[in-house]
Amino acid sequence: MERNYATYPSLQDRTVFVTGGADGIGAAMVLEFAKQGARVGFADIQPDKAVAVIDQCRHAEVVHVPRFYEVDLRDIDALQAAFTAAIEDLGGIAVLVNNAASDDRHTWQEVTADYWDDRLNTNLRHYFFAIQAVAPQMIEAGGGSIINIGSSSYMMQETMFPGYAIAKSAVEGITRTMAREFGADNIRVNTVLPGWVPTDRQLTKWWSEEGEAQTLEDQAIKRRIYPDEFAQIVLWLAADDGAACTAQQFLIDGGRF
Ligand SMILES: NC(=O)c1ccc[n+]([C@@H]2O[C@H](COP(=O)([O-])OP(=O)(O)OC[C@H]3O[C@@H](n4cnc5c(N)ncnc54)[C@H](O)[C@@H]3O)[C@@H](O)[C@H]2O)c1
Repeated sequence: MERNYATYPSLQDRTVFVTGGADGIGAAMVLEFAKQGARVGFADIQPDKAVAVIDQCRHAEVVHVPRFYEVDLRDIDALQAAFTAAIEDLGGIAVLVNNAASDDRHTWQEVTADYWDDRLNTNLRHYFFAIQAVAPQMIEAGGGSIINIGSSSYMMQETMFPGYAIAKSAVEGITRTMAREFGADNIRVNTVLPGWVPTDRQLTKWWSEEGEAQTLEDQAIKRRIYPDEFAQIVLWLAADDGAACTAQQFLIDGGRF
């Protein structure tokens, strides 16, 4: 469906960093920010897919072609080095979107201590350290916007991935805590949670006809919710238009919860 989205003057030339930007919702956010004229950097472990996102941005004739940083965000030293480089390359980071995650399936019985740590390192720990990496220069610049992508899975009491759902529930804790830490510095921190968004990974790995029928039955809106639609609330929170909004949680799930 062709959608006629808003353009935000304040996003023109704004510096934005998206984690997990090579695929799925992250890739849509990179493209949507670039289409607004933002200067975008993104991190991921999938360089081939990152090239495809950059090609898509070039094809859309964006003003600033996004820059890619190959980094496994579970490695905090590598994360810190990538943020140092991005702050230098982009001339600061005014907007951070913490998005990278992995909803790999597992039963509660098979979780070992190592796997538990890996789930938290993949889905939660880097959110905090990315915030820690960008905050000093946001404070110096007089403000910023941090958007943490959560998941409605724990609210929906979904099974099959406790290490993921439990980590995602703590994203809300990061948002509420850090919003208060940074409020006086004019740095806003919010959570945006998807319901079910049919990314390539979702469709390839987890999709079933019955699963989708149940999701649409549960949603008030009886159609798929697409990554570019999800991205629009993130743009709004990054723009001056969302300037009075912090410590909030926005559920973009077609009215499923
Ligand atoms: N798609 C959905 O239905 C859905 C539902 C609920 C929540 N979410 C949330 O939305 C966000 C995006 O999900 P998505 O569906 O687009 O996922 P996706 O798997 O399509 O994309 C995630 C991206 O993160 C990257 N990534 C994963 N681990 C990484 C690591 N250690 N270091 C660097 N990059 C890493 C992946 O390579 C990938 O490009 C996630 O936070 C996810 O939890 C998605």
